[in-house]
Amino acid sequence: MFRSSLHLQLAASLALLTVGYSAEPTASDPARQLREYRDYAMSHDGDAAAGRALFDNEQRAGCVKCHSIDGSASKAGPDLQSVGDKFPRRELIRSVLEPSAEIAVGYGSTIVEMKSGEAHQGIIKQATADAIELAGADGKRIQIPIGDIQSQHGSAVSLMPEGLQAGMTREEFADLIQYLTSLRQPENLLTSNRGMPSVIPELSTPIRLEPFLSDASHFPHAFVEKPGDVRFGLVWFAQLPGETNMFVAALQTGQIWLIEKDASGDRKSLFADISAEVFSKRGPNGLLGMAFHPRFRENRKYYLKHQVFEDEKIVTTVEERQASPDLHTDSGKPARRLWEVASTTQDHSGGCIAFGPDGYLYIGMGDTGPQQDPQGHGQNLGLFLGKMLRIDVDRIDPGLAYAIPPDNPFRNRPDVRPEIWAYGFREPWRFSFDSKTGDLWVGDVGQDRVEEVSIVRRGENMGWNVFEGFEPFSNRYRRDGERYVPPVFAYLRKYGNSITGGYVYRGDKRSSFYGVYICGDYTSHRIFGIKQSDRQLQEVWQIGTCPEGIASFAEDEAGTIYAVGYEGMVYRLTFEGTFFCSPSTKAADTNGR
Ligand code: HEC
Repeated sequence: MFRSSLHLQLAASLALLTVGYSAEPTASDPARQLREYRDYAMSHDGDAAAGRALFDNEQRAGCVKCHSIDGSASKAGPDLQSVGDKFPRRELIRSVLEPSAEIAVGYGSTIVEMKSGEAHQGIIKQATADAIELAGADGKRIQIPIGDIQSQHGSAVSLMPEGLQAGMTREEFADLIQYLTSLRQPENLLTSNRGMPSVIPELSTPIRLEPFLSDASHFPHAFVEKPGDVRFGLVWFAQLPGETNMFVAALQTGQIWLIEKDASGDRKSLFADISAEVFSKRGPNGLLGMAFHPRFRENRKYYLKHQVFEDEKIVTTVEERQASPDLHTDSGKPARRLWEVASTTQDHSGGCIAFGPDGYLYIGMGDTGPQQDPQGHGQNLGLFLGKMLRIDVDRIDPGLAYAIPPDNPFRNRPDVRPEIWAYGFREPWRFSFDSKTGDLWVGDVGQDRVEEVSIVRRGENMGWNVFEGFEPFSNRYRRDGERYVPPVFAYLRKYGNSITGGYVYRGDKRSSFYGVYICGDYTSHRIFGIKQSDRQLQEVWQIGTCPEGIASFAEDEAGTIYAVGYEGMVYRLTFEGTFFCSPSTKAADTNGR
């Protein structure tokens, strides 16, 4: 998730600002110019060919200095090959007029202060133990030896300069926007695979999403500090084990709330608050996930995955905590840190932790960047990065705060982390186990082309960054004789930018949705239902839409599924009155078969 978030509230407040602007604006009034350019480009189709010429003109717009459009992502800014699929017109306009309002994940700029007193600003392109490579605003790259660095921190200001429109007429600006909207993902490579249909049909009657929290218990989305700088969303939700009317909701800030529902309404109370210790900056940082011990009602243990800032580094941790005897709050006892790993950049630290049916704790860990995983973290079995890990929290091995389960696949291999269960992940933000079959389903956030969903088995290599979805991505870390397991399902940019893995529905056995895996996209808000057999996609439908960005899904003990909105509402999915693949829509099935 969070590939690039939609700051709806920010957009609203900016709009207010502009509307509230009362004095007669002068010609040099920047807010007025932005508004004029925006309104003009919203209401006029420009000439895409003229826009392309402007894009390529280094003396004028200069976009080409920082952006590739061939999928190579070779420059400082994001590749724009499918930007017309990624964003609607209004947001494309905003990306150019207000670069810092919304910084693309993975493209935040870093300021490096050197021991010599010099400073550099740019986008991290490579990061090894010895040096980092920055791409600067001038389009050039510099190598900085780690030993020369005094300090290093992220900036809330985009490397993309403001005011690029000032050198263009409104008409030229509309041409440029027309060109950006014309940049669509090439479909030639993509339709070849059955798991990645070129069209995902919609159910004729979508499922319903009912707001599950009341005014008293939901989390109206909060901005803190400067608009666009820090944003704290709702990231996780679950039933309190064994309690049918109690739920726990976690915010990225580190606040965890208990929500009690009864006939008189919802009550909300603080379950735990670790906000003083979490590192929470823009994007996918902070408190990311939570899990209850399978015997929580007896031992009261629960687990948090969150980030802290230690020794000038972002460190992702898993900690064990204990609830109070009534299970309604944290006990206040000190946490026990089980596991930790330092990140290369502030992106892709995974998010999910969950107990498998085997009683072991699984930890989804991202490659931690930079973009494209240039150091091959996902394929390197000596690292925790880009892996699915599996640990035993009930026992302790010498030198560890947990034990390695005896059947972990790489237990006895030298130079390999014995915690690894599977590898080749980019950003396994959310995963779950099918409560009937035990299958481990993972939603792995993609790079520039596709989002993917996989069923993952012991010891498997899921491919990143040799593969992205079904497609080859890079040969740099490819190994002869290695088996790269393809996903079950992948989707194109036109359907979304950031997969949020969900659950296999095991609620009502009579429902046509029984056995359907439900997942969604954070940016497009689409919800997908898929059926597979032997990891081959059988059916995929767009079954509904969530009103908010989908940060997570949740499943209660009765099998009901919820969508967790990043902006603070939880929705219950209801399937009554609709069918997964009804006979009438079957005829219109354009699933590439
Ligand atoms: C100095 C380098 C630089 C220049 C020049 C530049 N950009 Fe950017 N651009 C960036 C960076 C870095 C980002 C990512 C950070 C952000 O989202 O602001 C970005 C982001 C974008 C995005 C959002 C992409 C996404 O996937 O979220 C668009 C669209 C864009 N630029 C278009 C343009 C256009 C059009 C021009 C020319 C008028 C241009 N840029 C000039 C560096 C640049």
